[in-house]
Amino acid sequence: MTDENRNTVKVVFEPDGKIVSGSSDTLLELALNGNVSLRGECGGAGTCGKCRVQIVRHYGTLSGITETEKEKLSEEEIKNGYRLACQAKLLDGNCTVYIPSGSRSTKRKISAVGLEEDVTLCPAVRKYHISPEKGSFSDILPDLERLKRELGCHNGMNISLNLLAELPKTLRFSDWDITTAIYGNWIISVEPGDTTEEVYGVSVDIGSSKVICHLISLVTGKTLARANAENPQVMYGEDIVSRITYASKKPENLGKLQKLIINTVNFLIDSVCRQSGISHESIYDLVFVGNSVMHHIFLGITPKYIGVAPFIPAVGELFSVPAKDLGLNMNGEGLVTGVPLIGGYIGSDAVANLLITKIYEKEEISLVIDIGTNSEILLGNSEKIMACSAPSGPSFEGAHISSGMKAVSGAIESIKIEDGDVVYTTIDDVKPKGICGSGLIDLVAELYREGIITGTGKFRDLKHSLIKTEGLPEFIIEKSFDSGNNGDITITEKDINEFLLAKGSLKTGWTILADRYGIETSQIDKIYLAGSFGTHVNIENALALDLIPEIKRENIVFAGETAVGGAKIALKSSDARKNIEDVLKKVEYLELSVEKSFNSKYIRSIPLSSKK
Ligand code: FES
Repeated sequence: MTDENRNTVKVVFEPDGKIVSGSSDTLLELALNGNVSLRGECGGAGTCGKCRVQIVRHYGTLSGITETEKEKLSEEEIKNGYRLACQAKLLDGNCTVYIPSGSRSTKRKISAVGLEEDVTLCPAVRKYHISPEKGSFSDILPDLERLKRELGCHNGMNISLNLLAELPKTLRFSDWDITTAIYGNWIISVEPGDTTEEVYGVSVDIGSSKVICHLISLVTGKTLARANAENPQVMYGEDIVSRITYASKKPENLGKLQKLIINTVNFLIDSVCRQSGISHESIYDLVFVGNSVMHHIFLGITPKYIGVAPFIPAVGELFSVPAKDLGLNMNGEGLVTGVPLIGGYIGSDAVANLLITKIYEKEEISLVIDIGTNSEILLGNSEKIMACSAPSGPSFEGAHISSGMKAVSGAIESIKIEDGDVVYTTIDDVKPKGICGSGLIDLVAELYREGIITGTGKFRDLKHSLIKTEGLPEFIIEKSFDSGNNGDITITEKDINEFLLAKGSLKTGWTILADRYGIETSQIDKIYLAGSFGTHVNIENALALDLIPEIKRENIVFAGETAVGGAKIALKSSDARKNIEDVLKKVEYLELSVEKSFNSKYIRSIPLSSKK
């Protein structure tokens, strides 16, 4: 069915009662387009089974049950109207769909602690309250020139045609008492009265799986509100390679991905405006960071050539566009600025990590690790910095793990094995629904410490009381009757292997960086663990598993949400923005995939080492 002849359908998603209208896409696509919380960890591939929904009623035609659904759903579930939202389509009419609690994607835990942005406020946008003289027969200067004369800038100041068209009316309706907002050499707003206290900006971190937005007063420098959401593009693939593949397949796919992320950023802007009671029109500046692929898709630029050697982005420098070009819910004349990228696979989120940790100003050698699907690693000091991206896969995000889930309510976030029993805590102290990345690290470390698994992640003794052996062997973390998941929460050898591959990739990254920097890892003075994940990780276990090099515990810093913090520095300070290019001159990007020693180091980095 082509886009033109798709029917418009309407779906009510319960229990929130949210109504979403759209073309006859899958229920998952409709849910994500309407910002309805619905899990879809495999990106709609039909492999995770996490997008189960129940069709309550329908007045229209639903697509037939697919083979994938027959595999993932029990006969009982199918009989009771359960479908996989990524497979089922409403072809016409309307329907009501119930999303069970296990299929809802609650908001992930975002770190509240971390490094503070240390910067003097000097924003790019400034406001001036002025009262230009009214025109008269003895002073017939046109309105724009009159405005410029009052501002003391006769030449070189520009204004958009839209704003100019409104100018005569605004000047006269306000009785020539106005406030102008200036951004560089552009007049971006002319407002009646004195609005000099109302200057706001937002900093946005566009991650592959989550998006974070902070609202900042550009008069006081204070953060007024925060909001975050899942990146709905995950339905087209969890990792950036699948997003590149999808975006490159047909021109309209790029548009789809861009629309999803623009909608999400608009949703977050709405949220921070609501929280703080400010108007969208008073937001004049948006600074965003993200990996190179997220950066390009947000701007509507194809990421295709980032995906093929030699991995060249379309633009790497500081780049600004008017907000109206992207359809963002802020002052349309305001500017949207992307922080520069380091390379094809290491984006402006890594630059943000530099801005906030300031390792480029220090003599000590620091390692910054931002663990994610692609982990960004930076190593260096004021003389030189080396950077690489390690493709660690989604297991740290809880994906590709049979009982895995994101760090949201009900996720097991920490585990200990005490006297043969598994003891754990969950996010929000509710019944466990699955295990997130930090819980997985604890679990693997404990299983190894207790001798339950070997260094290659195999169960030593299948007769262990917590290992069930019907089918493939699984270590039981929680039995179904105590889980909020309607099933046992377990870990398999395949899950452990998935984790070991991820940690192997991460370790290879920092080992190669240290080699190329010409130091032993023991010479690293400080480690900054960036991002939410880093903040919740148990340091002893991270060290035991070689996720990070062995250094003194007191020299390991939980840096918090560094990406959005770094974007905030660039938002608050136009000087810091200008200085980024100088900082980047110190950075050397290393493409791990072309490193000769990569394969041998990677294979050596996968097994658990003898230290516990
Ligand atoms: S099975 Fe539907 S999103 Fe994974």
